[in-house]
Amino acid sequence: MKKYLEEKKNRVDQALKEYLEELHYPSIIANGMKYSVLNGGKRLRPILLLMTLELLDIEEEKGLSIGSGIEFIHSYSLVHDDLPALDNDEYRRGQLTTHRKYGEAEAILIGDALLTHSFNLVARANIEPKKVVELMKLVSNYSGVNGMIGGQMVDIESEGKKIDLPTLQYIHTHKTGKLLMLPIECGCIIAGIEGVKKEVLKRYAELIGLAFQIKDDILDIEGTFEELGKPIGSDIELEKSTYPSIFGMEKTKEILEEKVEEAKKIMFDTFGEKARKHMELANYIKNRRK
Ligand code: IPE
Ligand code: IPE
Ligand code: MG
Ligand code: MG
Ligand code: MG
Repeated sequence: MKKYLEEKKNRVDQALKEYLEELHYPSIIANGMKYSVLNGGKRLRPILLLMTLELLDIEEEKGLSIGSGIEFIHSYSLVHDDLPALDNDEYRRGQLTTHRKYGEAEAILIGDALLTHSFNLVARANIEPKKVVELMKLVSNYSGVNGMIGGQMVDIESEGKKIDLPTLQYIHTHKTGKLLMLPIECGCIIAGIEGVKKEVLKRYAELIGLAFQIKDDILDIEGTFEELGKPIGSDIELEKSTYPSIFGMEKTKEILEEKVEEAKKIMFDTFGEKARKHMELANYIKNRRK
């Protein structure tokens, strides 16, 4: 699996590099975009798209521009998440955050540029125009008010407060879950599948999306700066509502285990051995150290 992920990551990194090399002026935006994207992210979201296409017997090439667009959106979400007005963090992916490197106004614009250019990349997909329109709708829905931005807003306004479980679940499934569900559902649209297979993939996506953020919360306490490339203790400092802050660490790990096991089971029950990679990826999310 490690080798498989590395191989896929290299494909994605190559595509991202090519798309970014097209951009030159203003140089501060072009360079800032490169700085914020080409800096050792795990590329999990585009990899999920490629994996899902493979599962559904579609050529990987059909997903590269869309996967890159999604990674642009994810990278922009990190640039803005780290801003002083949000989480105020100084390091990301092992280097200074974009606003620390380029300035705050510049980082806001670099993030905006990544988001807007992502739609340009999605539009380049080599698939039927009707499907491109469907993808555009999904990408904007899961990135914006009904997705990541919605989650970020409730995350920010819940700082320092005691919130109930539905609110915590809303935060996690939206600020992080939606951008992880997005590539899997894009894969379903590209492959044109409907029915049980699509429903199971969507449920799998929801489960690993939530599991991913639960693990992120755990790593903010138990991880190391060296491995994560971002500061630990950020959540406690900002009095964020997280799974460990509400359930304690032991119960949080049980919940994580539960989500991952359910995700693996439904995939195996529906796709059998063909789901092996998706199952291993769920394990990877649970066990990751970065
Ligand atoms: C970090 O995402 C932010 C969250 C949504 C939890 P990743 O852990 O996928 O970050 P990179 O892309 O690998 O840096
Ligand atoms: C990340 O949540 C959500 C988005 C960036 C959209 P966090 O604020 O927990 O992510 P990290 O820990 O800074 O990567
Ligand atoms: Mg945040
Ligand atoms: Mg943060
Ligand atoms: Mg975090």
